[in-house]
Amino acid sequence: MAGKITGPSFGSDNHAGIHPEVLKAIGEANVGYASAYGADPWTERLSALVKKVFGERTECFPVFNGTGANVAALSAVLKRYEGVICAEKSHIDVDEGGAPESIGGFKLLTIPTKDQKLTVSVIREKLTRRGDAHAVQPRVISITQSTELGTIYSCEEIHAISNFAHAEGLVLHMDGARIANAAASLQAGGSANEYLRACTTDVGVDLLSFGGTKNGLMGAEAVLDLTGKFATDLRFIQKQSMQLASKMRFCSAQLIAALENDLWRRNAEQANGMARLLESKIRGVPGVTIAQKVEANAVFAKLPKKIIPGLQAQFPFYVWEELPEVPGETPVSVVRLMCSFQTTESDVLALARAILST
Ligand SMILES: Cc1ncc(COP(=O)(O)O)c(C=O)c1O
Repeated sequence: MAGKITGPSFGSDNHAGIHPEVLKAIGEANVGYASAYGADPWTERLSALVKKVFGERTECFPVFNGTGANVAALSAVLKRYEGVICAEKSHIDVDEGGAPESIGGFKLLTIPTKDQKLTVSVIREKLTRRGDAHAVQPRVISITQSTELGTIYSCEEIHAISNFAHAEGLVLHMDGARIANAAASLQAGGSANEYLRACTTDVGVDLLSFGGTKNGLMGAEAVLDLTGKFATDLRFIQKQSMQLASKMRFCSAQLIAALENDLWRRNAEQANGMARLLESKIRGVPGVTIAQKVEANAVFAKLPKKIIPGLQAQFPFYVWEELPEVPGETPVSVVRLMCSFQTTESDVLALARAILST
């Protein structure tokens, strides 16, 4: 999907712009001089804020992008002979251009799943040949929240994985490129202020790649060491993996804007709400099948192949999976319809009308 996009895009939450409150925060940080590489007042304020949100032990490392966050977080833990258990076709497996392998230098120990979610039983099966010098040693379990299929892990599911990981001497990493969508959907903990912590620190996640860009920031994410145990290594790894911003105040100012005044939650709720609305409008339409549970900001649906190009011309979106044709049946593909903080009710209604009228 190259070039200028004219209609409302359901292609990616990255197709949305920057939230005005984030732009304002960048403008406000654009005053005078500030020390570089994180020794600035904004980064100091952010460090205190993440401790308040995620727990006192949390150490924060602002970075530029999600791939960098994942590779830096994982590299901070792994020795050269250790690997990462993750779902087959997870972002680190298939969408990071081999950065985990080439920049991080570590092996991914992938597990096939139906819905991109790992469970203790499938992870247990992967824990073989421990102590065998001929085999890569599992050291980290990496889960994605929300998953690439728009599904989410419940707090109980995460807790079960972290309990198992810790009992086995493993570390639990969460790729939280869309943690805001998941936390806003789960609404765990007693109050909105606790949502993020309740589904991460409180259920035993050790390292979190905290997503910002898909939630309305401009290329700002963070590695959060929720335990404080990896911080010494992360300081060096962040630089070595080219994720240490010199003008870090502009990354930090954005992350502050997301975490203060609940912007992360407002943006995520808008995106999630629009996905739910879209699902409700197209579920049951002849020829349309909802292919995954709609739990965050994505709707995966099977659509007749012949209507897809016409719809895409008005409302850009991706075909996720070309399904094999079945004789006597209408050929269908799975498409991904992604909502963002910028998606409006009228965008959704227009897309739903277009689907209905084809
Ligand atoms: C699950 C997941 N992790 C990480 C990322 C971050 O990738 P990027 O390096 O493009 O910011 C994405 C973006 O698509 C993603 O979907």
